[in-house]
Amino acid sequence: MNILNVKSDDYRRWRDRKLACFTSDMSKLMVEIKNPLKLTSSEIKLSAKIINQSNLLFFELGHYKGDIRSSLVILAKQFGMGQFEILESSEKSGLTKIEVSSLSKAKSEYIPYTNKSLNWHTDGYYNEVNDPILSWLLFCKSNSSNGGDNKFMDHEIAYILFNDHSADIGDLMDSEAFTIPENTQNGRKAVSSYVFRLLDNKLHMKFSMREKNIIWRNKIKSSVELLKTIIKENEYYQIKYKLKPNQGVISNNVIHMRSSFTNTSNKNRLLYRLRSKRRIDI
Ligand SMILES: [Fe+2]
Repeated sequence: MNILNVKSDDYRRWRDRKLACFTSDMSKLMVEIKNPLKLTSSEIKLSAKIINQSNLLFFELGHYKGDIRSSLVILAKQFGMGQFEILESSEKSGLTKIEVSSLSKAKSEYIPYTNKSLNWHTDGYYNEVNDPILSWLLFCKSNSSNGGDNKFMDHEIAYILFNDHSADIGDLMDSEAFTIPENTQNGRKAVSSYVFRLLDNKLHMKFSMREKNIIWRNKIKSSVELLKTIIKENEYYQIKYKLKPNQGVISNNVIHMRSSFTNTSNKNRLLYRLRSKRRIDI
C-alpha cells in the first residue's frame, strides 16, 4: 500500500483505521516486562500490537535488579533496534545519559542536557538525509519532583491530519523544506531536509518546532504553520505522560516534547536514551 496516494481507497482505509485505533489510555500502551534480557512470547505479541497501532509503547520493568544500562541495549535489540547512534557523550554501546549537565560546558549548551523545556521535534532532524534516526528508547532512572513531563504524537497521525486540512502535502515532502545552518562550534555542516518521506514504505518525519537556527523554505511557510498548529492544538491525539522510575518508552521516532523541570538537592532527573538507525521490528 502506498500511503502517499492520499486520494486512493487504500489511503482512506489506512487513515480511518489509524484514527479509529488511536488511544491515549496508558493501560493500553504499557507493557510490563519481567526480564528485559529475554522477552516472553506474550510480551512480544502485546508489544508488536501496540507498536503497529501507535508507533510507540511504554514499558515497566518492575523490580528488575540487573545492570540496567546493558539490559536496555539487550532489550532494544529484541525490538529490532540496532546501529545505535554514538555521540561524544554516549557510552560505547550508544547509551546516552540525559541529565542536567554542569560538568561539560559543551554538553550544557544543548537543551536536552538542561532543565529547559524541549519543543516538539523528532530525534535527528538535523541528521544527514542518508543517516536518519528511525527509532529510540528512553528509560527513566529517576525523575524530578516538578515538571519533566513528555507529550508524544504519532507522526503518521500528524500526516493524516495535515492531509485532512490541506492538499499541499507536497510542500512538506520537498527535499529542501528546511535547512539547519552549519554549526561552526562542532563542525556540523548545514543540512537541508524533507519533513515527510516514505522510507521502506514507512513514513519518516524530520521536524523541529524550534524558532532559532532553522530556515524554512519561503514558499512552504503556510504549510509549515498549518502543521505546527495541528501538532500543538490537537490535544486529543497527544499522549501525555511523565515517566516514573523503572519505566520507559520505545518509539518509531514519533514527534515529542518535554516540559521544563526542577531538580532538587536529592532528586535529579536521569533518563537513558538509545537512538537507532533501524525501525522497530518485533
Ligand atoms: Fe527527542
